[in-house]
Amino acid sequence: MDEAPRTPRLWGGRFGAELDPTLHRFTASFPFDRRLVRHDLVGSLAHARMLAECGVLSRPDAEAVLGGLSAILREVEEQRLVVSGDDEDVHTWIERVLRERVGEAAGRLHTARSRNDQVSTALRLYVRDALRDLVARAVALQEVWRDQAAAFREAWMPGYTHLQRAQPSTLAHHLLAHAWALNADIRRLQHVHHQAGLCVLGAGALAGTSHPIRPERTAYWLGFSAVFPNSLYAVADRDFVLEAAFAATLVLLHLSRWAEEVVLWTTLEFGFAELSDSVAKGSSLMPQKKNPEAAELIRGKAGRGAGALASLLTALKGVPLAYNSDLQEDKEPLFDCLDTAAACLEAATVLARGIRFRTDRMREALRGGFLTATDLADYLVRRGVPFRTAHEQAGRAVREAEQRGCELWELPLDALRQACPQAGEDVYESLSPEGSVRQRRSLGGPAPERVAEQLERLAQEVEATRAWLAAALPPPVYRAHREGRLLEKL
Ligand code: ARG
Repeated sequence: MDEAPRTPRLWGGRFGAELDPTLHRFTASFPFDRRLVRHDLVGSLAHARMLAECGVLSRPDAEAVLGGLSAILREVEEQRLVVSGDDEDVHTWIERVLRERVGEAAGRLHTARSRNDQVSTALRLYVRDALRDLVARAVALQEVWRDQAAAFREAWMPGYTHLQRAQPSTLAHHLLAHAWALNADIRRLQHVHHQAGLCVLGAGALAGTSHPIRPERTAYWLGFSAVFPNSLYAVADRDFVLEAAFAATLVLLHLSRWAEEVVLWTTLEFGFAELSDSVAKGSSLMPQKKNPEAAELIRGKAGRGAGALASLLTALKGVPLAYNSDLQEDKEPLFDCLDTAAACLEAATVLARGIRFRTDRMREALRGGFLTATDLADYLVRRGVPFRTAHEQAGRAVREAEQRGCELWELPLDALRQACPQAGEDVYESLSPEGSVRQRRSLGGPAPERVAEQLERLAQEVEATRAWLAAALPPPVYRAHREGRLLEKL
């Protein structure tokens, strides 16, 4: 009589010895793939339901398997069942627990399936959930920025290039720039959510199956929009992992740029913003310190996304078709990247709410930098001067103001005319920061009425995102599990 294997496994018939314990630990993915347990159970439910519909699984076996999987899923969700053991991966754990409950019928679940199509399916379901969650978090942050922007349409401030004061703008315009970057992120996350919805169950290990399966039924039960065109491609593909990591990394990158501004703006040097006590931290040594640590960490954590993406690209490069264990290396970087993006979005939302803007300091910063020199040149162009000449003349006016130690709008008209002969009385409307912003009514510009339009457009985008979130329902098979309909019409 053979000894019972020390560790449960899904293979063993052809092996005469136990796997070396060091290599068992080294090759196991259970410590990190156990987080796929609910998704793998959902994938298995869809597969079993499809097998039953095709007559590959008898009615009594379907009852045992679907009932058993559903009970396991419910207990896992209610935390009545702990997902642990010495199993090599989550798939092995599920099959072991199912066998303990329903006996031999459990052995029929893996008909026309391999762990290769199984793991990809579980990961696709997981990625879709995680992306939906990122979209929900991103839109919440977008709304904070939108509401703040709405309140600061006439809060004049310098806009920067090269981190040098460049042209007058408004705080609203600035905040909306971040909101639009996040909007692009949201659309990208949604796109990847769609891409991940490819059903690969039924591809088998690589070469399909001889059983009369109907993968389009599995796709239906999973809520996926497409079915694999080629079984080899199906099990080898990890594009959805890369795309998800890239989309999450871009979120992190955008947040890091915003966070860097929070750090800068809350310095005494800038003084454009202050942090409420609930979003700042202190120093153990210097009693006066108030540090923007959450912002610094959001800035720093972006590195994880880039690192994860590099790991994934490197792990996947050169992997021959189809499944190879290298593909098991897809999980940890992906999870880290998605977790980090979720945590940073959440922290950024709290932090953003705790920022008090110092619009007085922003207004002060509009002095001294001759920020309306471009407006002077544009005024001259409207008077018929070629832009290059106008640029030259406005530059001379700047030199004059600098020498006098005054602002451009404080130059007397005769002095201005020395530099810019075409200047008339009405030039002063273009020289004040407020006048300058109000005149920049071009598409997407900072003029308050243009910003009002942007706010309108953004409101529509937010509404579209909210509608998408409401429509991104759990897979039909999950709903059938919740409502006890798994055996319906079998
Ligand atoms: N743990 C594996 C992974 O995450 C599951 C697939 C294993 N397939 C196999 N042929 N060993 O990729």
